[in-house]
Amino acid sequence: MKSFLHVSDIGPLATALEEARQVKATPLAWRHLGEGKTVVLVFFNNSLRTRLSSQKAAYNLGLQPIVLNVGADSWKLETELGVVMDGDRSEHLREAVPVIGSYCDLIGVRSFAGLNDRDFDYAETILRQFIDWSGRPVISLESATVHPCQAFADLITIDEYWTRKTGLRLGSGRRPKVVLSWAPHPRALPQAVPNSFAEWMNAAPVDLVITHPEGYELDPQFVQGARVEYDQMKAFEGADFVYAKNWSCPGVSCPQAYGQVLNYDRSWTVDERQMAVTDGAYFLHCLPVRRNVVVSDAVLDSPKSIVIPEAANRVVSAQTVMKRILEDIKNQ
Ligand code: CP
Repeated sequence: MKSFLHVSDIGPLATALEEARQVKATPLAWRHLGEGKTVVLVFFNNSLRTRLSSQKAAYNLGLQPIVLNVGADSWKLETELGVVMDGDRSEHLREAVPVIGSYCDLIGVRSFAGLNDRDFDYAETILRQFIDWSGRPVISLESATVHPCQAFADLITIDEYWTRKTGLRLGSGRRPKVVLSWAPHPRALPQAVPNSFAEWMNAAPVDLVITHPEGYELDPQFVQGARVEYDQMKAFEGADFVYAKNWSCPGVSCPQAYGQVLNYDRSWTVDERQMAVTDGAYFLHCLPVRRNVVVSDAVLDSPKSIVIPEAANRVVSAQTVMKRILEDIKNQ
């Protein structure tokens, strides 16, 4: 695996899921793989889960992690090409990225969408510079448009709880109904989590329904053939899993509104009213979550909420991806 951005980068999902199960069962079985190797984890933005789970995954593989908080630990980095650097950014990615690459064997990068320029964000301009100039495999730790480590952990969690509910493995019987629901939020958030969740669920043996107010249509490359339902209650009917997430306007149906908050309709807050029409659905959210804005206390604190095991599976997804990359390095 050269880089990890999309579900296609991990190959057949059934194989990846089986590998994730093995990693979870015996996390220290591949400690030899990372011996003498280093991963640099570059953070342009805040993180709790991604930072800790990536470090834990590295430790489990015998890999040494180095965390760089851009702007706090390092110089402020310029990310745009062709600019006159007479502002507060002292170093360009053009030099910083190959230098980082010279100190490690693989790199993880967190760089959120700026939500000002759709073309800049959807070209993954920052992550691409790491891929092009580092000479190392690069993992998106949530970049402008995707959060694959989160989506892989979401899939691992759905697989586990589907087996708990039905006794079946994903892909071996009826397909679960999975609903991705937009939820209100006071601030403009990126689309990376819903984009990747949709992409991964479309590749998995599940029936995906995406529900949101008009204007929040996700990019077609991620929606693919999923059903889009503007009536949230209708979308929730008979659901096995509900995944709530806010996202700002993706600029698909309204390019001039890219990155804006179009709607703060609190009737979209996931609460017991919507969950009552599901088939006893499990509730997922990537976290961090704003209580009683995105989801009610009652749902988040209910036995059907699986947000903590979902977050715990971030170690499993990160470790499975790093393991694959280390195996590739070893076989080169
Ligand atoms: N879900 C997630 O990526 O959490 P952090 O932003 O805390 O890393």
